[in-house]
Amino acid sequence: MRSPRLIEIDQQGPAGRHADLLRDLTASPALVSPKYFYDALGSSLFAAITRLPEYYPTRTEAAIFARHVDEIATQLPTGLTLIDIGAGDCEKAARLLAPFAVGSYVAVDISVDFLGDSLTRLQLQHPDLPMLGVGTDFSQRLRLPLEIGDGQRLLFYPGSSIGNFTPAQALDFLHQLRQATQGGGLLIGVDLLKPVAVLEAAYDDPLGVTAAFNRNLLRHLNQLIGSDFVLADWQHVAFFDRAQSRIEMHLEARRSLKVLWPGGERAFATGERIHTENSYKWRAEDFAALLSAAGFSRIRRWTDERAWFAVFLAQA
Ligand code: AVJ
Repeated sequence: MRSPRLIEIDQQGPAGRHADLLRDLTASPALVSPKYFYDALGSSLFAAITRLPEYYPTRTEAAIFARHVDEIATQLPTGLTLIDIGAGDCEKAARLLAPFAVGSYVAVDISVDFLGDSLTRLQLQHPDLPMLGVGTDFSQRLRLPLEIGDGQRLLFYPGSSIGNFTPAQALDFLHQLRQATQGGGLLIGVDLLKPVAVLEAAYDDPLGVTAAFNRNLLRHLNQLIGSDFVLADWQHVAFFDRAQSRIEMHLEARRSLKVLWPGGERAFATGERIHTENSYKWRAEDFAALLSAAGFSRIRRWTDERAWFAVFLAQA
């Protein structure tokens, strides 16, 4: 059996990461990039979120693929290189490997240890499929290693991770994805606008898994910058902002407090927030227009019967 090779591309280095984090933590209002959710525990918590009854995106996207995978496959050449951006547990791609008859699989994720475990497990199911893991932070710039080779590429960006970007950033990222396909295709999952109650329940589940996922960010920060965030002092807040068509997640101080780290500190008043995530909800027509604006053509779309989620296939 092959064992999957892992390549790490550190785009920023620890010093740059540290400086960015402190800049954002001391900004008004404070913020932390959602990429810091995904340490090993955070990736596990996200995998748990995807199984919550309230968190419809993963399940709805999976149902779209289950229903249309053969039709999608007819649009694709066999033997292609499937490049999974933000692969996480690799479960979404795992269900496409056989139906698409892929020639090789490349999994890209910021959480490199978690990715390594996921790939090792997946390789057991597909002992002869060439696989490569790439540990990298692609949130600013997507860089892929030459080791991927020059097979026909399909970039796979599922789960509505594109929703973490503002529309302007999403357009820029789609441009980068188009470059990275080298003339191939893009298969992307996008969460759609729907009743607010459904949206808000998905990001504030009664079991508290999303709250734990959000609060775990502070634990990760304590590791990265040596801060002394006390997790119990912070309340999970999630709501839909209609004007911007996005779920916002925040962590709200339950009391007035001070956070210390080597060389600095920040005071928070009771109720003051740290903005941790945006998750944009698109109208399908608007997202198709965004794909066109990014230079994609032959755009095809599949949705579920409630039109809660859409999968787009587009040609670079
Ligand atoms: C991984 C960005 C698609 O926005 O729904 C889930 C992350 N945050 N619950 C999303 C998330 C809270 C998720 N994405």
